[in-house]
This record gives sequence, structure tokens and C-alpha cells, in this order.
Amino acid sequence: MIPSDDTINALREALRVSPTNVPLNEHLALMLLKLGRFDESEAAYREALAVAPRHVGLKLGLAQAFYQQQKNSAALVIVEDLIKQSDPPAGACLLHAKLLLRAGEPQRAAHQYREAVAIDPEAADAELARELGIGPAARPFSEEDDEGRLRQPAGELPAGPEEFDVERPTIAFDQVGGMDAVKEEIRMKIILPLEQPELFQAYGKKIGGGILMYGPPGCGKTFLARATAGQVKAGFLAVGISDVLDMWIGSSERNLHELFEQARRNKPCVLFFDEVDALGASRADMRHTAGRHLINQFLAELDGVDASNEGLLILAATNAPWHLDNAFRRPGRFDRILFVPPPDREARSAIVRLMLAGKPADGVDFEAIAKKTEHFSGADLKAVVDMAVEAKLRDAMKSGKLEPLRTKDLAAAAGQVKPSTREWFATARNYALYSNQGGVYDDILKHLKLS
Ligand SMILES: Nc1ncnc2c1ncn2[C@@H]1O[C@H](COP(=O)(O)OP(=O)(O)OP(=O)(O)O)[C@@H](O)[C@H]1O
Ligand SMILES: [Mg+2]
Repeated sequence: MIPSDDTINALREALRVSPTNVPLNEHLALMLLKLGRFDESEAAYREALAVAPRHVGLKLGLAQAFYQQQKNSAALVIVEDLIKQSDPPAGACLLHAKLLLRAGEPQRAAHQYREAVAIDPEAADAELARELGIGPAARPFSEEDDEGRLRQPAGELPAGPEEFDVERPTIAFDQVGGMDAVKEEIRMKIILPLEQPELFQAYGKKIGGGILMYGPPGCGKTFLARATAGQVKAGFLAVGISDVLDMWIGSSERNLHELFEQARRNKPCVLFFDEVDALGASRADMRHTAGRHLINQFLAELDGVDASNEGLLILAATNAPWHLDNAFRRPGRFDRILFVPPPDREARSAIVRLMLAGKPADGVDFEAIAKKTEHFSGADLKAVVDMAVEAKLRDAMKSGKLEPLRTKDLAAAAGQVKPSTREWFATARNYALYSNQGGVYDDILKHLKLS
């Protein structure tokens, strides 16, 4: 039923009498949303939120009003906050999916859409599902979509081997702050061989092998892997090894093979193994033959025994390289092992600058923020920016005015976030000091100024 102007007027009248009645206000805001009077709806949601700032339904409503007005980043800030909760409303996931689709990330959008429907089947949206290529009619291996992004739609297979999502990342190296040494290695070792194979052949240099990145959490390993794919416009297939291990009973070996096969079908493709230590540890610590089998198969796939790995860029990341089996380090496998340190001052300044791009900010002194955030990881810096944005947003909801972010907002947020990289170094230090075979951890020692 479409609400009439009379209904709206009556609601407004009632609100004049009891202005702090939240349900009434929410009802009005919703009616306005349905009528397509989005700016009025936004105003009503803001008013209600001024009374009940933690109200989830109101926040979601406001995000919807933003979305309808193409205020995408404002909507995204709210939605990301909502889905962080332990039991996010299906509506928030659904809206997140729409926002991701708008942002040109259909793969992640499909993932969020499925999440929404899993929480509440009622959230199903046939139109959106069709746009995302989800549904019974979707073919498992169709061609690219209209924009050439997806080779493999997110359609669910009724049976058969587990399918893996191939993403088309839109970020590239220029969106990754600092990390110059690692970028350079990736360029030399895996991007150039892909782009100019003749050059390498001319010098009789074999192409192949991957890069293993290690370091404290939140310092951009996963982010850079994704950007590598974006940089060369390749597909991106990320697997947490623990996912593979979970599937191990029965068919995980086939899954592993299927994974490599899918990457090969999507060439060029970055195949990224996250938490690769989980796999290595299983060979050393567990006596299961099944586990050893799995690792041997993994190594065989890396070696490209049965199929060519040309066009496949292999990256891996771990927080605990010391758990990784030495067999992974042989030539042609992960023969480059790179330390990814926390960002230095210059990198922190660059990262915060990147994170503020597109957000209302005014005269921010990035140097000062960088100085205040020693030992912060990239993820910690993101938390600082998020926190500062949230504070501004809260103010804006109250005052109805959008103030730009300033140095003092970020400095205040930085004071509230604890740097998270120290703990990792406490462990890493011991391995670097006492089991540093072949000097693999010299970089850690150098970083800690112990060598
Ligand atoms: N160099 C960077 N430039 C821009 N953003 C960064 C950078 N490093 C980290 N970030 C931000 O921090 C977030 C977390 O980083 P990421 O997930 O890549 O860390 P990680 O090293 O993979 O951590 P973990 O070891 O816990 O998996 C990223 O999504 C990104 O927003
Ligand atoms: Mg990671």
C-alpha cells in the first residue's frame, strides 16, 4: 500500500506532539522512503537517531535513504558498521551487496547477498540475484559478464566439486601505501615474467615459483596480494589453507586440484594462499597420512607436474613462517620469502592519506599523524580512520551538518587505538634469534636492530 500525503501529514502532526517518539519517527521515515521522498526520509531518520543513536533499524534506514540518493560512501560507512556486529540484520548485508555491486565488486556483492539470504530467506531479491548471476538459471561456467569482470559467475553448483570465487580486484599498487621493497620484488619476480616472458627465456631464466610474505598481522599482505591481481588485471583467487584442510576428509585433495585447475582456467590469475603455515604445520605436527598426502599434492600442484602453471601468479602469506615445512622453500615453490614489516613513518603518512581519499577532510597534517602512530599496522591505521569518521558522523547526525575531518580528530582516534604489531615481534624475535637457519629471519633481526 502506498501511503498518502494525508498519512504523512498525520504522522508529522503526531510527532509535533511527541517529538521523541522513536517508533513514530521511524514509521514516518519509512513511509517517506517508500514514497521516494528520500531527502525528507533522511532528515526523519537523522531526527530519530538523535533520540536513539544506537537503534539498528534507524541506522539501516538512514543508510537506505543515503543509498537512494547515491550517497554511497555515507551509506557504506553505516552498513560496514552494522555488519561488523555479531548478528547483523539481513537488510544490512543486502544493502552492502547492492553497494558493492555499485562499486564494481560483483564477486564480493554476491558473497554478501548469499549471506543476507542465509540470515533471512525473506531477504531474497530476485532482481539483484539476477544481476549478480545467482540463481537456478545461472550457468556454472559462463563467459564474462557485461563489463568483462567475472569469468565465473557466483552461481551455486547443485553438486560436483567445490567451486572457488575468482575475483577481479579493482585496487592496484598505487592504492597500497609504502611496501616499496615488496612491490619491487613482486614486480621483478612475477609481474615481469608474465608480461615479458621472452626476456626471461633469453637469459635462460626459468619462470615460476611464488613469493611468500610473512610478518605481523594487518600490515597489508592480503591487501597487496589483491592489488597485485588488480595491477596486472588478472583474476584473484584467495584460499585460506584452513578452508582446504577443513574439507580434507574425503575430497579435499580433489578440491585442491580443482582449485589450481580453476585458476588455470582463469589465466592470468593470482592464486593467493593465506595462512599457508596451517598447511606446513600439519605435515610437521600431525602423523596423519591423509595430511601428508594433501601437502604432497599441494607441492605437486605448485610444481605444475600435471599441468602448466604458466600465467599463474602464486603468492602466499603467513604470520608464522617458522611453522612452514622446508619443502615449501625449494626452488620453483616459494623461493622468495619476504618480510613485510609494519609501515614506517613515511608509509604511515601515505596510508592515512590513501584512506582519507574521497572523504571530507581539511588540512590534515599527515606527518603529525604518522609520528603519533609508531608500531601501528595498516589495519590499526584503518581503525583510527574509521573511528574518526564515526565520531564525525555521530556529530553530523546530531547537528545535521557535515564537518570535514581534521588533524585533531585523527589524533584523538589514534590515542584510542592500541598498536597491534608488538606482540608478534615478541614471538618472532625468539625464532629469529634461536632458529634462524640460513639467515631466513635476518630481516626481523635488522628490524629489531638486533643485528
Ligand atoms: N600498505 C597499506 N596501504 C593501504 N592500506 C593498508 C596497507 N596495509 C594494510 N592496509 C589496510 O589494512 C587492512 C588489513 O590489511 P591486510 O588484511 O592486508 O593485512 P595482513 O598483513 O594480510 O594481515 P593478516 O596477517 O592478519 O592476514 C587492509 O584491508 C587495508 O585496508
Ligand atoms: Mg591477511
